[in-house]
Amino acid sequence: MIPNIIAPYLQEHHGVLHVGDHSVMDLRERFGSNLFVFSESQITENVRHLQRAYQAHYPRFRIMYASKACSNLEILRHMVSLDCGIDANSGGELFKARHIGVNPERVVYNGTSKSVDEVTQGVLAGIRAFNVDSISELKRIGDVARRLGLTANVMPRVIPGVLGGTVAGFETGHVGSKFGMPFEDLPEVARVLREYPCLKFRGFHCHVGSQVVRTEAFSSAMRNVVAEMVRFGRETGFMADTMNMGGGLPIPLVPEGTMPAHRDGSPLPEDVQALMRGTISIPDVAAETAAAWRAAGADPADFDVFIEPGRSVIGTAGILLSTIEARKTRPGGVDWLLSDCGFNTMPETLWYDWYYHVVAGNRAREAADTAFRLGGPLCDTGDSQHDETGRGRLPNVRWLPKNTRIGDCLVVLGTGAYCIEQQSNYNGRPRAAAVIVRSNGVVEWITRRETYEDLIARDFGARRAP
Ligand SMILES: Cc1ncc(COP(=O)(O)O)c(C=O)c1O
Repeated sequence: MIPNIIAPYLQEHHGVLHVGDHSVMDLRERFGSNLFVFSESQITENVRHLQRAYQAHYPRFRIMYASKACSNLEILRHMVSLDCGIDANSGGELFKARHIGVNPERVVYNGTSKSVDEVTQGVLAGIRAFNVDSISELKRIGDVARRLGLTANVMPRVIPGVLGGTVAGFETGHVGSKFGMPFEDLPEVARVLREYPCLKFRGFHCHVGSQVVRTEAFSSAMRNVVAEMVRFGRETGFMADTMNMGGGLPIPLVPEGTMPAHRDGSPLPEDVQALMRGTISIPDVAAETAAAWRAAGADPADFDVFIEPGRSVIGTAGILLSTIEARKTRPGGVDWLLSDCGFNTMPETLWYDWYYHVVAGNRAREAADTAFRLGGPLCDTGDSQHDETGRGRLPNVRWLPKNTRIGDCLVVLGTGAYCIEQQSNYNGRPRAAAVIVRSNGVVEWITRRETYEDLIARDFGARRAP
């Protein structure tokens, strides 16, 4: 029997996992493998949970959903129907937000390297804020807005000067990272704002990182940034009316009460376990950040306050169904299971040794008591979901029922965020399809499966480039 399994919408009936009334075996049969399955009711619950927690302390609060986590149009539409705005991170994400008709007043735009074209799109759309990553970008936005005779809303992204306790590649809140501006840049920001009256200063943006598991990181960030905002207003006269506290709230990567271990039972490093537990109280983060505001000399009630969650609203609302295609024995007693799902579908396994919990969806009552090595279909040794290369951040085996075999449905949990977006066609593999199980129980396609024709559709073959 599987313990409470990350997502409450996943239930076991007669030994098979179900999303609502739909067994994972039926879904895979009907829609194919690999298949992302989203639960609309879980998305709604995740959003409402955040809104309740933050609205208790921030009366003028809005979620700006970080569309980089999953920018499927139906997911975006659902977020907007729940009163969220959209955080775009590129011209493409801006285009998607505009395509579904989001009010530009509810769009913010992040990114370190916005091109003139992208800036122009944002200025023409009249978005709520450019989260401005550098002085040079501030000038670029000023130049574009001046040329167009329009005003652009700007919120400099400042470096909060904290570490979130996450994987190094997700730490964005320290001065060594490529993101944002140090507080020392603020006098120059004020000078550029004066030089370009077409820039409308709205406030500051900051972001600590992703899968940040320390409440203290969020509250320290706000203590630092709010103090600077107050000083900036006093010293320059540029008064903020908005604050964007960024994203980064974590999700549990493992079912409650379980912790994967190596084959010999030895534990993973404590910091890795903390990341996997991903337990943080969102009401506590909301309360403690608001307390940090007051300690720094500002009342959150006087500001429009945004957060930009991605993972914490969509991550647990999606699972990935795949298929065991081969099983092989090796000396040493740990069999290999090879599925049709590799780092082409879940790239963060490769880049960050990201842990996705896997269960055998059609053996949900069988004890996961047998060690396996678990690989995908790609031509790399690194295409495995256990520690195959000795880096030490993943368990060196995966635990599944003894009888797991070819044809079984492997369910990969917590794959709602940063998978669909990052999939690739590596090794000539068409990208996975996605469906959503609506709150009324109906299943609908939200992304069709790619075909082999799609794989060649953009190539010119031997034709000369135009
Ligand atoms: C600026 C910014 N905002 C929001 C997010 C979303 O973070 P998460 O999905 O961890 O909530 C990110 C992700 O890295 C980001 O860079």
